[in-house]
Parts: sequence; structure tokens; C-alpha cells
Amino acid sequence: MSNYHIKHLEEYFQVYRKSVQDPKRFWEEIAEEHFVWKKKWNEVLSWDFEKPEIKWFDGAQLNITENCLDRHLPSRGNKTAILFEPNDPSGGAQHITYRELHERVCRFANVLKNQGIGKGDRVCIYLPMIPELAFSLLACARIGAIHSVVFAGFSATALSTRINDCDAKMVITSDGSYRGAKTIDLKGIVDEALQDCPGVQSVLVAKRINTDIHMEAGRDHWLQPLLEEAYADCAAEIMEAEDPLFILYTSGSTGKPKGMLHTTAGYMIYTAYTFKNVFQYREEDIYWCSADIGWITGHSYIVYGPLANGATTVMFEGVPSYPDFGRFWEVVEKHKVTQFYTAPTAIRALAKESLDLVERHDLSSLKILGTVGEPINEEAWHWYNDHIGNKQCPIVDTWWQTETGGMLISPIPFSTPTKPTYATLPLPGVQPVLMDEHGKILKGNQTDGRLCIQFPWPSIARTIWGNHQRYKETYFSAFPGMYFTGDGALRDEVGYYRITGRVDDVIIVSGHNLGTAPIEDAINEHPAVAESAIVGFPHDIKGNALYGFVILKENGEDRDRDNLKKEINQMITDHIGPIAKLDKIQFVPGLPKTRSGKIMRRILRKIASNELGNLGDTSTLLNPEVVDQIIEERQ
Ligand code: WTA
Repeated sequence: MSNYHIKHLEEYFQVYRKSVQDPKRFWEEIAEEHFVWKKKWNEVLSWDFEKPEIKWFDGAQLNITENCLDRHLPSRGNKTAILFEPNDPSGGAQHITYRELHERVCRFANVLKNQGIGKGDRVCIYLPMIPELAFSLLACARIGAIHSVVFAGFSATALSTRINDCDAKMVITSDGSYRGAKTIDLKGIVDEALQDCPGVQSVLVAKRINTDIHMEAGRDHWLQPLLEEAYADCAAEIMEAEDPLFILYTSGSTGKPKGMLHTTAGYMIYTAYTFKNVFQYREEDIYWCSADIGWITGHSYIVYGPLANGATTVMFEGVPSYPDFGRFWEVVEKHKVTQFYTAPTAIRALAKESLDLVERHDLSSLKILGTVGEPINEEAWHWYNDHIGNKQCPIVDTWWQTETGGMLISPIPFSTPTKPTYATLPLPGVQPVLMDEHGKILKGNQTDGRLCIQFPWPSIARTIWGNHQRYKETYFSAFPGMYFTGDGALRDEVGYYRITGRVDDVIIVSGHNLGTAPIEDAINEHPAVAESAIVGFPHDIKGNALYGFVILKENGEDRDRDNLKKEINQMITDHIGPIAKLDKIQFVPGLPKTRSGKIMRRILRKIASNELGNLGDTSTLLNPEVVDQIIEERQ
């Protein structure tokens, strides 16, 4: 039996049992056999979910980039590490070998050092999906700087909030980015953000679209000449197992975004382990995850997990619709991709297009398909299975979160029989439980409740940057002694899990987590808006879309409604980014509220979803009459 590579169902059950009965021994064996260390640990695990405090491999020393790069050089120096496929299909792919990647990361690390960045400093990365994005993460890790990647679709305000929250000293960006047929002025967004970020001392700018941009003297530097001057070798900083590796922001149901902090050793081991098993990765494979590195999926399963296994990982700069909706399949054919990992929203969008766009490509290289980010509906699952996988490729529906660092519930291909819409069984080391509303564990199968995890796994986020209290309240207070995921789930008759969706005020739109509160805050800044409430409603392609109920101030009453709607969406684009725009906006005379003044979102959700027959008891509302008025003018 190999703990590290599960090959059939019996083995999965054995390995899983061991991982629960003796988790320390289980992870210790994996750590010893499959990674390189500068110094071994004193203790495999110490944890307390009350405080909460979690430490894996405390006392060990390592550098994650030695595990992702240096150790592969003797055997895989000439193997492609990153296969970059640009936005423009005629642009020519780049094969970056492990040796080249090592050199480019070292040079980049030296540039960071020359700019005064050292261990523990925060570096904000705001880049499109170009190789420099991967280099910059690894360069930070090489010298022990903490990277904080901000998805390059976020607005200037969202960027400055994130820069200031973690006191980043440096920003790494590019002159601009390509997105399908469009270009985006990223540097302009950075310039605007930095007006509010006094702590940023320097900006490194990669050249991508060759536009003439403003360079602030003394602050902004072109990256390329600095890389050319830098030494091609850079010793890896010795890091403690629990030293921070990165911060990545995720939306909360309230307040500002949460900077989830991930640390070094546990994150490395867990992402590598899950990559190996969930994609049944083999040396000759060409693996492609179509996510953006701006999200956790890209961190764990484009960069760290694949590279720790010495894999070839495809980095795709483009979008699924450019130059046409066959682009993904063209890339699969061109690079003979063996594992393809994407989001249900992309599958739904592509399934709407002509099948000819799929069938004109040879997809026979594919062995395994994956999905992540939101529940996959049955129809999309079957389309993916029939037309992309040709009924030959197991689909891994992987459930996990920014906070969990790696996948927690997922089939293991060729071991776990799949079932449409089910993430199936917990991966080794993961102990899920379902809880009822009163905090009781729901035993047995055929039940549903709130999904919690009752034992730490190596890549659990250790805190929220700068706010440990919020970390405790958000994840460890609803069900004391447990990590609460914020998701609801059901367990079927054989113990398979199906994630049913968020049970808090986070809405997942096209696979992106959006908190309702920040969107409402943005809208409420409009001078004509008195109050607003955002809810989600089902959408064919995006999974959920946003519906805004808005109360106008008196001064807004005679304004043109269509213009107001445009302005409101513009406020959202400016404060958060276009991903948070509302599909529907309804101006209402009031919002249904409880006697204590809380908005009854449950009722608004039903109205938005057109489930009008089933509104529940509205008699306890402060203003029940408003419900009928809202229904009458529903959009
Ligand atoms: C949802 C993405 C159903 C879930 C890795 C979770 C899923 C949130 C799945 C985290 C799945 C993710 N099936 N729902 N396979 N995967 N989710 O932080 O609600 O961007 O809590 O991490 O996405 O989103 P995040």
C-alpha cells in the first residue's frame, strides 16, 4: 500500500482509515518520503480549535521553492514546468523548463532583494496570467516574502483596500493585459489605487502589451532590465514550517475582505498530495487548470501542487470565448492535455454553444476532468462527461475553499465511483461532519446539515491577517470545537457528500465568492440611494446572479430609472470590479424587516427566485405590506 498514491477503492479505504486513526504518523510518512527538508520537525501536529491555533511540522525548516524547483533539476531540468499559452492563438506557446524556471525565479528573487524586500515583507501581485505571475509568487517564496495576489479583474478601490490591509511594501504589475479582443490598462488601475496606499515604496512593471504608460520616478521600475542585471542564482531562505507563505483575500458575509494566511510546510504537503491523487498525476502528463492564479485554485493547482510534483502545468492567458467558444478544446488538442480542471460556470457557458466547436477537436488525450468553485448541476455534468470526456474520463468534482488551501472532498479517479453533482468522499486526513442548527452532530447517512470539519488537515488557513478574533468568530464559533465551512451539504445512503451551497450571506457568481455587504456598501454610496439589499437568484450560466433591491432617497425619486441602474452598476464596478455587477435592480419603497430591524433576506431571496408560493410567515415583520408591493413590481 502506498499512502502517497492511491490506485483503487480498497486502497482508498485503507489509507483513509489510517489517516483518521493515526493522522500524525500518516502525514509524517508522507512528509519524510516525498519532500526535502533543511531540518526535520519536533512535532507533527499541535492544535486547539478553541483558540484557535494549528501547527503542522513545527520546528521543521525548508523552502517550498526547493521542493518545487531545485530538487527537480537533476532529473527534470529539461522537462517543461510551465507551458504558457497566450491570449492570441497565433502568439506561440512558451515551454519553460524546470531549469529555466529556476533561473528566472532566482533572478526575480534577487530583484526583490535589491529593492529592499526581505523575509516577512508583504508583496502585492496584480498581474494577468503571464509567466511573470508564476515567477513572482515563487520569487517571494524564495526569499521568504509573503505574497498577496489580487486578481487582476478587481478595481482600484478593491486593490488599495487589500494593499493597505496587509501593509504591502511593493506592488508587482504589468503595463496592461489582454483579455480576448480587449486590452486592459492595469498600470492605470494600480496608479489610481496607489493614491491611497502610502506604504508602497516600489512598483515593478512587466511589459506585456507595450503601451505607453506613466512611470512614477523613484517608485516605478520596469522589471525586464532589473532581471537582466540580477544574479542568476539565489540561495533559498531557510523558512520555519509555520512561517507565512501567502495571504489571499476572500469575501466575507460582512465587512472587509478576509486576508487568509497560509503557512509553508503543511500547505506544501497537502497541495502536493491532493494534486497527485485527485489528478492521478503521472510523469508524462500535461495538466491544465483553467483558473486564474488570482484565486486559490490557481495558487494550489497551477503553481504549488503541480510544481511540487515536477509536473508540466499549463498557464492560459486567454478566455474561453476568444477567438471563439472552441478555444479551450483547441488548447487541449494542441498541447495534448491529459487532465483538465475548470469551473462549472465555464462548462455551462460552453455547453450552450454549437457542439461542432467541440467535435472539430481531437480530445482523445484527456484522461481526467475536474470541476471546482460551485455546485455542478446534473445537465452540465453530463455534457462534460459525454462531450468532453467521451464517457471515458472520470470527473472529479472537488469541493474546497480559499480557507482550506487544498481540496477536501473529491473522488479519486479510477478508485471512487463518481456520481453526478456529488463531491463524493473526503480525501485522506479530512474528517467532515454534518451539524444540525442546534449544534448536534448528525450521525448516519441520508441526512443533511451544515458542513464542518472536526480535525485539522495540513493546509488549513492559520488566521486572518491582522484579525485573529475574526478568524475565530467566522470559522470556530458557530460550532465550538469544529471548523465551520459556511456550506450546507447532504450525505446520501452510501456516505457520499453533495454540497448544496452557502448557508451564509456569501453568494457564488460564476464561481467567484461575493459577499453581500461590500456590494451593498458600494451601492449605498450613491447619492440617490438610501438603502439596499442584495440576494442571489438562480442563473443558467453563472449559477447565481445578483438581484438588488434598492430604496431611493427623495432626491432620487424623479431621476431616470435606467440611468440610475447604470450608475449603480458603475459604483459596483469602481468599488469591487465588474464581476459583482447586478443582473437585476428593483427600486422598492421599503425592505422587509424584522422587529429588531434586520432585513429578511430569506423573503427577498424567494422573491428574486420567483418562488412566490412559499414565502413563509410574514406576519412577524415590522412592515408586511411592503412584501406585496415588492412582488407586484418584481423584475
Ligand atoms: C463553493 C474555491 C460545490 C463552496 C476553491 C465553497 C463548491 C466556496 C465546490 C469556496 C464544489 C467550491 N461543489 N460548491 N465542488 N467548490 N464550492 O474560496 O460554497 O473561491 O465554500 O474556493 O465555493 O470558494 P473559494
